[in-house]
Amino acid sequence: MTRILSVTAALLLAACSDSDSPNSAPTASADTAEPRSGALLYRQYCVNCHGSGAAGAPQVGKDHRLYWSHEVEEEGFDTLVQEAIHGINAMPPRGNCYDCTDEEVRQAVLYMLQLSAAK
Ligand code: HEC
Repeated sequence: MTRILSVTAALLLAACSDSDSPNSAPTASADTAEPRSGALLYRQYCVNCHGSGAAGAPQVGKDHRLYWSHEVEEEGFDTLVQEAIHGINAMPPRGNCYDCTDEEVRQAVLYMLQLSAAK
């Protein structure tokens, strides 16, 4: 008889700790909504082509300042961002960062221009 009681107690305890878990649900999802920095995205995606000039991509860096300054002057920053988002010729949409938001692509373009010291 005592034995059955203690089993029931154990089951009750188990049920108790189960019903606790919804309260301690992880709240990590708030973090993933943070936009990633342009520097991070550049190193993860854009550098593959723009670091080396692979696929005919215009290279990034101070040596290429004139190219990028000219692009900004001729096309404007917003147009460059639009081209990066939608792709142009061998430039893939969003630089292959499929889950990048428009704002994240914009930050990556900004970072590329900063690396190139473009005006
Ligand atoms: C698969 C190679 C590749 C990757 C990855 C890539 N690009 Fe490009 N990108 C290109 C090529 C090629 C061009 C030149 C396109 C053209 O004008 O013909 C280009 C051009 C550009 C231009 C200039 C467009 C213009 O008007 O000249 C911008 C801005 C740009 N890329 C941004 C980015 C950003 C930001 C990323 C990362 C999120 C990225 N690219 C990733 C290949 C790449």
